[in-house]
Amino acid sequence: MLAVAVLAAGKGTRMCSDLPKVLQPLAGVTLLERVLNSCAALGQQRTLLIVGHQAERVQAALRSRREGPEFVWQEPQLGTGHGVQQLLVPLKDFRGQLLVLNGDVPLLRAETLGQLLRQHRDSDAAVTLLTARLEDPSGYGRVFCRDDGTVSAIVEERDCSGEQRLNNRVNAGVYCFDWQQLSTVLPGLGADNDQGELYLTDTIARLQPARQLDVADAGEIGGINDRHQLAHCEGLLQQRLRRLWMDRGVSFIDPASCTLSEDTLFGRDVVVEPQTHFRGRCRIGDGCRIGPGALIEGSTLGRDVTVCFAVLNQARVAEGVSVGPYAHLRPGADIGAHCRIGNFVEVKQSSLGQGTRVNHLSYLGDASLGDRVNVGAGTITANYDGVHKHRTVIGSSSKTGANSVLVAPLTVGENVTIAAGSTITRDAEDNSLVIARARQLSKANYRPLPENGEG
Ligand code: UD1
Ligand code: CA
Repeated sequence: MLAVAVLAAGKGTRMCSDLPKVLQPLAGVTLLERVLNSCAALGQQRTLLIVGHQAERVQAALRSRREGPEFVWQEPQLGTGHGVQQLLVPLKDFRGQLLVLNGDVPLLRAETLGQLLRQHRDSDAAVTLLTARLEDPSGYGRVFCRDDGTVSAIVEERDCSGEQRLNNRVNAGVYCFDWQQLSTVLPGLGADNDQGELYLTDTIARLQPARQLDVADAGEIGGINDRHQLAHCEGLLQQRLRRLWMDRGVSFIDPASCTLSEDTLFGRDVVVEPQTHFRGRCRIGDGCRIGPGALIEGSTLGRDVTVCFAVLNQARVAEGVSVGPYAHLRPGADIGAHCRIGNFVEVKQSSLGQGTRVNHLSYLGDASLGDRVNVGAGTITANYDGVHKHRTVIGSSSKTGANSVLVAPLTVGENVTIAAGSTITRDAEDNSLVIARARQLSKANYRPLPENGEG
């Protein structure tokens, strides 16, 4: 039997934030969700989350998860050992292993946890902990081993002597305990340390034999106590994601200047130009060229789409479309194959058929355009009457002149030509030419010819 407990009750004082530390995001996903994801598929019978500081907020943040953890309250928060003591009641009748994870160690791989479990089960250990050798171990508890390889103790950095501090084997904050043995030593924890807290790490010296497993990739065990470590982990995570996609056929011109989300999937031969960012769930088709300077959020792009200096949010873009420079596709923008969305164009809640062109300086909101429509420079859909939004429909092969204003609700038929500078308020029939602007008046000789005094 296996139970997993995640420690998430601490305040995270060093973050200097109103947000509980475990709710800080990394690549858009909270630390806590990352930890819960890393241990989701270990086959455990119970998953318990120890909450305390802003517990309601932490609970609320997990509401959408399909399989939520059991919440265990720790109030007040007197240290990691005190946190795990709160399990004595809910796990009273439990027998088996207890895997304890720190809620602020977000980059652990599921495989590493699996390896820790296997090693623990195949040995005689009362506890097996995950450790790493770090070039710079500062901030972490140091793990001391005997000659036979068993762990004798963990000493927090602030309680270390100068000599102990030189030990660069650190405690990752991930432990596989034999629960029965742990539950007998938990009640006896003292607070005789620099912080006056009950340390979970103090149980190790009392549980024997204690064994450890060094992780191969020390980047996995990065703990987050402050904004520097948050930024460092974000960097590691981004590097991990970029490497993964390079292995699968995505080119980055300047990798370090681009950021990705785990929910973004790329096709083959995608080129990501500098300063390009993907957030949330994106799908990027084969052969797309994205950037320089693009922000793509929650959007789906077909194959061979180019996007240059543009922002796309919850948009769908079919194959062969060119977007930008300086375009903004907002939620509900649905762009058909081979369309062109050019300079300073904004599209919201609008669908465009195939081969439609909106090349310059336009706003299309709540509109449906057919195929091969040519939207003239400066065309605007006036979709809002101050109270309600209204739709504009434009049929295939129609053409709006430069600086037209289409006042919705409005239906323009197919193959219609709208004259430049028109403000259209009534529907237009198929194949018509519509002109709605003041007629030009020309007054001859308005300025009398200059007198030629010398004439
Ligand atoms: C802890 C370990 C340290 C290890 C490091 C790895 C202890 C005493 N020290 O130190 O050996 O190298 O993690 O990152 O465990 N928490 C509670 N209740 C509390 C206090 C903390 O739930 O009363 C939670 C926090 O929310 C956090 C986790 O426990 O998720 C770790 O607490 P933190 O104070 O960050 O411990 P560290 O000083 O980093
Ligand atoms: Ca920590």
